[in-house]
Amino acid sequence: MQIKDLGQFHEMTNLAKNSPEFFWEQIAKTFVWKKNWHKISSGNFNQLDIKWFPGAELNITENILDRHLKTHPQKCALIFLANNPSDLPLKISYQELHDRVCQAANALKNLGVKKGDIVTLYMGMVPELFISVLAAARIGATFSVVFGGFSAQSLAGRINNSKSQFLITSDFSLRGDKIIPLKAVVDEALKECPSVKSVLIHQRYPDGIIDLISGRDFFWKDTVEKAQTICPPEYVDAEHPLFILYTSGSTGSPKGLVHTTAGYMCYAQYTFSNVFQMAADDIFWCTADLGWITGHSYVTFGPLLAGHTTVMFEGIPTFPTPARFWEEIDRLGVTHFYTAPTAIRALQAQGTKWLENKKLDSLKVLGSVGEPINEEAWEWYHTHVGLKRCPIVDTWWQTETGGIMISALANITPSIPTFATLPLPGIFPVLMDADGREIAWKKGQEAEGNLCIKHPWPGIARSIFGDHNRYSENYFKAYPGYYFTGDGAKIDAHGNFRITGRVDDVVNVSGHRIGTAEVEDVLNRHPFIVESAVIGAAHAIKGQGLHAFCIPQKSISPNEELAILNEVNQLLTKEIGAIAKIESLQIVTDLPKTRSGKIMRRILRKIVENDFSNLGDTSTLLNPLIVQQLIDKRK
Ligand code: PRX
Repeated sequence: MQIKDLGQFHEMTNLAKNSPEFFWEQIAKTFVWKKNWHKISSGNFNQLDIKWFPGAELNITENILDRHLKTHPQKCALIFLANNPSDLPLKISYQELHDRVCQAANALKNLGVKKGDIVTLYMGMVPELFISVLAAARIGATFSVVFGGFSAQSLAGRINNSKSQFLITSDFSLRGDKIIPLKAVVDEALKECPSVKSVLIHQRYPDGIIDLISGRDFFWKDTVEKAQTICPPEYVDAEHPLFILYTSGSTGSPKGLVHTTAGYMCYAQYTFSNVFQMAADDIFWCTADLGWITGHSYVTFGPLLAGHTTVMFEGIPTFPTPARFWEEIDRLGVTHFYTAPTAIRALQAQGTKWLENKKLDSLKVLGSVGEPINEEAWEWYHTHVGLKRCPIVDTWWQTETGGIMISALANITPSIPTFATLPLPGIFPVLMDADGREIAWKKGQEAEGNLCIKHPWPGIARSIFGDHNRYSENYFKAYPGYYFTGDGAKIDAHGNFRITGRVDDVVNVSGHRIGTAEVEDVLNRHPFIVESAVIGAAHAIKGQGLHAFCIPQKSISPNEELAILNEVNQLLTKEIGAIAKIESLQIVTDLPKTRSGKIMRRILRKIVENDFSNLGDTSTLLNPLIVQQLIDKRK
């Protein structure tokens, strides 16, 4: 179902409100099912046994591949842009993609992968990753993509949590001028992962040297490329887990969110088609990595379910020069470009000279995702990339939501700088006040509070892998009967939502979620550090940067402080990955804590941002004098 104009948008919003089952059924009916549902949905936010389309059976790849082969087998499904721009873009048609997915699916079966098994993928942004995701789904296996920038420890933690038995990786990955030894990281990780039986290795850089373990390691070229190009889809229940994706929360280790097949499928295509409004020959480029939810829903599933052409980019925005994005948009004739504010700010900082002589006239729609977009970056994107012609859809959503929740619909509902604007039809966001009550917003009024969603939608993650209790505690305890997003938001007089950022202990660094607890855990393992508090504070390019306050074992000189910062950053790279990097580290004698022992991160954030006014009432702290000491040291 694709909404065509503003009138229809309002109609659909009302339909979804008054007849939700009928609304979602119209969307579901556009897909191919092996067996129909006996109910549209069941469960609610109190019982947390949410099901969509129960009783139905399907295979998502039948809807991505076989369905489109009937109408456009030769249409380009995937354009692969390699790290090095002198490698010509590789174009893969729907027919070819089908054949390659079937080969990989058959190879997985030959390795012993069965329906319900979990396959972990640890690769760079190469077509083989894209194909592996679909191959797992083809045979009813659940895939778990781990971002190729994560460390051996992070990879091992995710594999051990899911007890995955199969791993697909590449020998190396290429990013900018770096060659990253993925297989060596895998070998390190697998020392601690007894569950893994087989490793399939795609060779991205065959000149490089890797170790092989006989009986465990197999090459893609010897298995996949020799397999049959036909593999009948394995049908699964609507609620069969399609994938697990790990993300950070405010406490504990990363949680594996479980997304199920039918609801995710319906939601990915519904949101893709309506937010981006693509025409048949348009080309969609989402720059996200498949290691994140954006890469799942809008590099892979959304565009392919809708039968469109999607671009997959291996490299980084600044290699070989900061003109890379703009050159590729012109070279391919990209019509829809979807990226993160952090990339926009980084390119803005390089100046407009990189945009000189770029036509950018193929562009129709621009998108933003992952963090709040500041007004300056919005204006720059609008003026220099969109040439003031293209609407910007600022899409708010999360790993947990499966797809876009609040966004303008391109050329249908208005875009407003820094506002995600309106919820999609079928989504019911509300704000909660300080007493935990829903704020009854009325037209003409403004409101601010914690953002919750009122009713289940098909794309919501159903659980945290292996820990349904944690799912319930994390998302449904603060406001019983509501899904709590962890974000704060404002509503303007017309009902437009503006997301103000996380209100929990999650920091958004360059659009990547990092839990302060995870970072503190690593810091506390440094031999000099007894206790630490980590906060996120405003950063000109990254949106937020990480800053640490640490209590040392013994007194430390300013020189040592810098040395500890470097050591801590090395430790973080090793334990988490290069995305977790501390900007500043301050050695302190104590931390501001409440009488119940909770660290007042709000105060620390203000100190880092040099905003010493309005620190709130500090008199009730366990150690109120520490605040002035921290300010003096900062000054
Ligand atoms: O704080 C919000 C921010 O990113 C968080 C979700 O992160 P993640 O699960 O990694 O998914 C990122 C891609 C969907 C949210 O809780 N966020 C995401 N999009 C926006 C945003 N904040 C403001 N505006 C957005 N458009």
